[in-house]
Amino acid sequence: MNIIKIVRFLNDVFFEKKSLPPLAMREQLVDGWDFEDKRLTYSVLRHALPLSWFLDIRYPKWRKKIAVQHSAFGICALFVALDQLIFGQKAIYYVNQWLSSALNKDLRVNWLTPIARAILAQAPDESIFWSVIHDAAKKSDSWIAHLLEDNPNLQLELMFSHPPLWISCKSLNLQKEISEIECANILSTDLGGSAIQLKKTTEYVQSLFEAGQISFQNISSQRLRLILEKIEITPNNILDCCAAPGGKSILLFNHYPNANLTLTDLSLPRLLELKSNLIRVGIDNSTVQIEVLQHNWTTSSTLLSNKSAKLKNFDLVLVDPPCSGSGVTRKHPDSLWKKHDNHSLEQTQANILKNAASYVMPGGYLIYSTCSINSNENEKQIGKFISENPSWTYIKVELAGLIQKEFGMLQLMSSSADGMFFAVLQRKIDA
Ligand SMILES: C[S@@+](CC[C@H](N)C(=O)[O-])C[C@H]1O[C@@H](n2cnc3c(N)ncnc32)[C@H](O)[C@@H]1O
Repeated sequence: MNIIKIVRFLNDVFFEKKSLPPLAMREQLVDGWDFEDKRLTYSVLRHALPLSWFLDIRYPKWRKKIAVQHSAFGICALFVALDQLIFGQKAIYYVNQWLSSALNKDLRVNWLTPIARAILAQAPDESIFWSVIHDAAKKSDSWIAHLLEDNPNLQLELMFSHPPLWISCKSLNLQKEISEIECANILSTDLGGSAIQLKKTTEYVQSLFEAGQISFQNISSQRLRLILEKIEITPNNILDCCAAPGGKSILLFNHYPNANLTLTDLSLPRLLELKSNLIRVGIDNSTVQIEVLQHNWTTSSTLLSNKSAKLKNFDLVLVDPPCSGSGVTRKHPDSLWKKHDNHSLEQTQANILKNAASYVMPGGYLIYSTCSINSNENEKQIGKFISENPSWTYIKVELAGLIQKEFGMLQLMSSSADGMFFAVLQRKIDA
């Protein structure tokens, strides 16, 4: 184990506030890191918040001393040790050995060694750890306390666990081929076999991804397809407002291959990523009209340039606005300890929804989705929109396994599914 490399990385993220490399979701891919070192690093990234609550509750005095001494490297090493002991089922003797050596020789924080040894000696097993953390989370001033109030059935530990890995396949033949070749690697399938949950990525899976034959997309997002099946329309013009990096745009294209697609996003770098994803899966302008445009949906003033936008005749608009990501913390562990300005985020979502809705033609549909499980970003947002816009109707759609809210459907995080919210609205024909 390259402890110094791991500790430096953790220190950069926790204390130097450097952002996480964008590979969070694809942590199993090879990028110069030893596989075990990488797995352990991500495990600590995911568990850092509960580990620090645990230390606050169980060892308030030591915690204070550690904070006063400003030993960022020492704390990171202690986190690595606790992680291995509680979640990695490593023997205490082994963990003590390397931690003492790391603290005394490599990091030169000898004063921490007896404290760390005492903490490790009393480390609980995983189930006791989570019961302590449940109470700590409820009492904490973290946004997670509000999330638990909002969703009493939320299984808290799932927020800090390893993300499930799902792929969506382009063709039936490919589904069959993957089922045969990866049979021992498959955990489950859904959506008639086109959605496959894998234990891990393999070179074969990676090659399919690069060839554009599959995409990595959680089952919750892939369920958008079921919603499209339920609303039963054949749209001519579709607008995907916050489209990058294109996961749902590709799904829309596959479902409605003859429709014109207008894909917009505020972020230029993310639009580039969207374009390269479209190219990767072989979507080009040769068969249908696809436009990719930069647009800021919080401002109503700038109109898009293309014909559908001028006529405002989109029969389907997807609004997947920026959100807190509280349903996908497994993919983005750094979101766990980031402070969110919820008020301005919710205002942005409301503005994007209002402005995008004005581009839907009478009788057309708007699908609103987030990967958040906060009611303020979801059903309350839709409830407010409906109450302020009498020319719109909320359309109740039911999908098995999702929680029916007054305005929308919620997928709480489960061992295989990400947290996600969908709501379907229709503009009245005479509006
Ligand atoms: C949740 S992501 C969209 C994910 C995408 N729909 C997919 O399935 O791959 C939200 C997107 O909204 C974009 N965004 C943020 N503020 C925006 C705004 N004011 N107008 C347009 N797009 C915005 C972000 O750049 C980001 O790409």
